[in-house]
Amino acid sequence: MPRIAYLNGRFVRHAEARVHIEDRGYQLADGVYEVWAVFDGRLADAAGHFERLARSLAELRIDQPMSREALAIVLGETVRRNRVKDGLVYLQVTRGVAPRDHAFPDPPAAPAMVVTAKRIDLAAAEARAAKGVAVITVPENRWGRCDIKSIALLPNVLARQAAREAGAAEAWFVDKMGLVTEGAASNAWIVDAAGSLRTRNIQANILRGITRKSLLALAEEAGLTVDERGFTAEEAKGAREAFITGAGTLVLPVVRVDGAVLGNGEPGPLAKRLRQLYIDEARRAAGETPPIKNQKGDQTRVERQEVEPAGHLPQRRAPGADAPDHLPGERGQAAGGGQLVR
Ligand code: PDD
Repeated sequence: MPRIAYLNGRFVRHAEARVHIEDRGYQLADGVYEVWAVFDGRLADAAGHFERLARSLAELRIDQPMSREALAIVLGETVRRNRVKDGLVYLQVTRGVAPRDHAFPDPPAAPAMVVTAKRIDLAAAEARAAKGVAVITVPENRWGRCDIKSIALLPNVLARQAAREAGAAEAWFVDKMGLVTEGAASNAWIVDAAGSLRTRNIQANILRGITRKSLLALAEEAGLTVDERGFTAEEAKGAREAFITGAGTLVLPVVRVDGAVLGNGEPGPLAKRLRQLYIDEARRAAGETPPIKNQKGDQTRVERQEVEPAGHLPQRRAPGADAPDHLPGERGQAAGGGQLVR
């Protein structure tokens, strides 16, 4: 079964999905993204990610490509078309296609939008979590707006590559105060000597992780002591436990920091418990998301032309009519190539 991507109003074969060379995301990293974990074909922490997406877009003054309801349909439909039961769905919105100029296009371009979905091998993910992972620390060198989930990720890319070359799974940024901010693609946590859960406060220059937020609520419900206070790399090395959180990793135990072994070198009890708590709750809450319905009430199949939010998607055309070269939702050159999949 070929993978399918959503691209500016069309579902196309993933292998053939192309964006324009003057897409501002491609040339200037002028865009934002979101990643949802998928459990049983439903989005985890759906509302939190939608809210953060809206905030990232507003902060950068990029128009919402469509309503939240329409977005939810497109995301759900991308998950369904790729038959993802457990995995990830990725959404990217850029300021659109325009002749290269650093300032915003005037008149504004329509935002360009891409969605992909992929499966995760749950058994492999669980095996990794059961073993725990290593992290390294690197100097913080990112811009001052890490609260925006921007696609400009070069420092994160370099940090993650440094981790990989050091045999670690993640890199933690350490700021000028000597405090860990977060990971290249995750939030950073320890269980300190006093047994408190510690993670950086969102007033710091970090991404306000949705998994982090949900886990904080779960930890408090479970009566654990939570302290949103930064920690140094040294504190992390001497911590009872450590872990990272994110849509891609969920709650993943850390067993080594810069080569120093934590505890007995195995995932700590709290990290393991929190991973289970988070997964159980995310799966349960995702199950409450209403299934995608088309107008006939068929919950398993949504026809492409019924996904028609906010003018971003194709208009209906008469049955049997030829597909035009550019469907109205495609926004001319914003649309990439790729075979239209019906
Ligand atoms: N990354 N911090 C950074 C820098 C991140 O990129 C991410 C997520 C997180 C965790 O946020 P959340 O819990 O909302 O996923 C923290 C995603 C998964 C990625 O880049 O693929």
